[in-house]
Amino acid sequence: MADAPVDMSVTLADVELPNPLMTASGCAANGKELHRFFDVSSLGAFVTKSVMAAPRSGRGTPRMAETPSGMLNSIGLQGPGIHAFVENDLAWLKSVGARVLVSIAGGSSGEFADVAAVLRQSPAFDCVVGVEVNISCPNVANRGLVFAIDPLASAKVVALVREQLPRDIPVFAKLSPDVTDIASIASACVKAGASGLTMINTLLGMVIDTDRMRPQLGGLTGGLSGPGIRPVAVRAIWQVRAAMAEGRFRTVPIIGVGGVRTGRDALELVAAGASAIQVGTATFNDPTAPVRVLRELENLLADKGFDTFTQAVGAAHRRQEVYR
Ligand SMILES: Cc1cc2nc3c(=O)[nH]c(=O)nc-3n(C[C@H](O)[C@H](O)[C@H](O)COP(=O)(O)O)c2cc1C
Repeated sequence: MADAPVDMSVTLADVELPNPLMTASGCAANGKELHRFFDVSSLGAFVTKSVMAAPRSGRGTPRMAETPSGMLNSIGLQGPGIHAFVENDLAWLKSVGARVLVSIAGGSSGEFADVAAVLRQSPAFDCVVGVEVNISCPNVANRGLVFAIDPLASAKVVALVREQLPRDIPVFAKLSPDVTDIASIASACVKAGASGLTMINTLLGMVIDTDRMRPQLGGLTGGLSGPGIRPVAVRAIWQVRAAMAEGRFRTVPIIGVGGVRTGRDALELVAAGASAIQVGTATFNDPTAPVRVLRELENLLADKGFDTFTQAVGAAHRRQEVYR
């Protein structure tokens, strides 16, 4: 193993982070549990569970099902509401020195804006390094509420949230892979003012219990995550990065998420074009996964002769000519 240090720092939409590793929204609650296993301030950023305006109890139980190489969840947007979140969770994350990417959600574009406005007023706002706009949660009762399946609805949410936040706070739009052309949704978000994109949220799936001959999840459908979806994440990141390179819209940083368990998995998303990596489902059976993946990624980059992390971003695009 090479021992030359690799510069792992990365600048995402003018915000400098010491490294590119993050938690994935909804997979590490709001940090306290994980902090027992490692210092959450050592992450590039901690990403919080999507928060809405009012407290919510989420969807009916059961809310988890196993799948080959992954899991299906129908937690829904359970949470304390933005006021309790800023008072308790955000204040705690600030007290431990974490850099926080706050994930917000809403049932309407106006609710997203309201949540962003409360966040901006919070005394703990100075630990916020960005806002991730979850327009892609599949766990809603009405499919029409998934903004990220429609370019106009996505753009409206992004524009309203952008208006509520100071210019130096980047807004990342989190996209769904459950669309025909993800680049057109990405384009709408960037043109509406998104500073970056997070890809991908879970895929809509369903499991049927064949003993009882009925759907396994209380909410019937759920979001598929874990290693099984990694090729979908790689494909989505690749397509959007290629669309930016073709000039279809402005080049913005992509945060990659989907099925990352190891440093090598992370490198795959990075080579496709991701400038940062979130670890979600893997955290459930290894709470140290985000920091372990960071270490593994750094070692792998050193072995491959990279001096800096950013040299590897999108590297596979530069190599594709060998197949032509
Ligand atoms: C239990 C669970 C809850 C999640 N909750 C959220 C959420 O609140 N907001 C969000 O944007 N994504 C949520 N996600 C999606 C993840 O952030 C991530 O995009 C997805 O799981 C793919 O990454 P992974 O395969 O590493 O888990 C959730 C995923 C899981 C498994």
